[in-house]
Amino acid sequence: MDYNSTKKYWDEIFAEVPVYKAENRVNNGELERCFKWLGEGAESVIDFGCGNGRALYRAAYYGSKKVLGIDISAEGIDLAKKIELDGLEKDFVLGGVESLKDIEDASFEGGILFNILDNISPSDCETVLNEIHRILGDGGKLLIKLNPEYDNKELDSDPDFTKFEESLYLEESGVYFYNITDHMMKSFLDGKFNIVDEGEIEFKDFMTYNRIYLLEKSEG
Ligand SMILES: C[S@@+](CC[C@H](N)C(=O)[O-])C[C@H]1O[C@@H](n2cnc3c(N)ncnc32)[C@H](O)[C@@H]1O
Repeated sequence: MDYNSTKKYWDEIFAEVPVYKAENRVNNGELERCFKWLGEGAESVIDFGCGNGRALYRAAYYGSKKVLGIDISAEGIDLAKKIELDGLEKDFVLGGVESLKDIEDASFEGGILFNILDNISPSDCETVLNEIHRILGDGGKLLIKLNPEYDNKELDSDPDFTKFEESLYLEESGVYFYNITDHMMKSFLDGKFNIVDEGEIEFKDFMTYNRIYLLEKSEG
């Protein structure tokens, strides 16, 4: 899958964004509680699709000591590298799904997948979940955030969405949208991760909500 238009979209967005400050709480209390859960429970955290690095640094603010971020946007990675937090061991890689295969088995205690699984192809989504499962150690913690679930029929008739395959669309912006329903998500997680908590987080400024899953790697 070619992500050139996705990369262009995010490079243009991140070129206009100031460097985040690790100590700044995000503008959402429920999301902060998720970062606290991960930061207090995982010494090392990997974030695939890390963007400007905000989520990783919030986890580090709450306790994580080592972070790795991966993203295809060079502008996002540049911003993430510039954030300062004393004593944090950090690494950022410019790359896509293929970068995950270079990471050792069971080498991280925590993971973040925020608004990325539903911005890539179904086969890449499956690869990312399998790779994160391999990379996390026993009992590893994973935070997943997804866009709202839509009815495919609505998207099929929306001129801003070009259909590629079942549930996969290219938005007018150049970003892919994989419409992962809650039912699909549960089947993806089955046998890999246990659900510790799940819910919806409201973003009043954008008049939308996101789905959030707090997960732990299953035994065996
Ligand atoms: C909606 S943003 C989320 C950014 C960040 N996770 C956050 O929540 O603030 C999606 C991010 O995924 C990255 N991305 C999209 N497709 C990707 C791919 N195939 N490989 C790596 N990163 C990708 C984009 O560059 C962008 O930074």
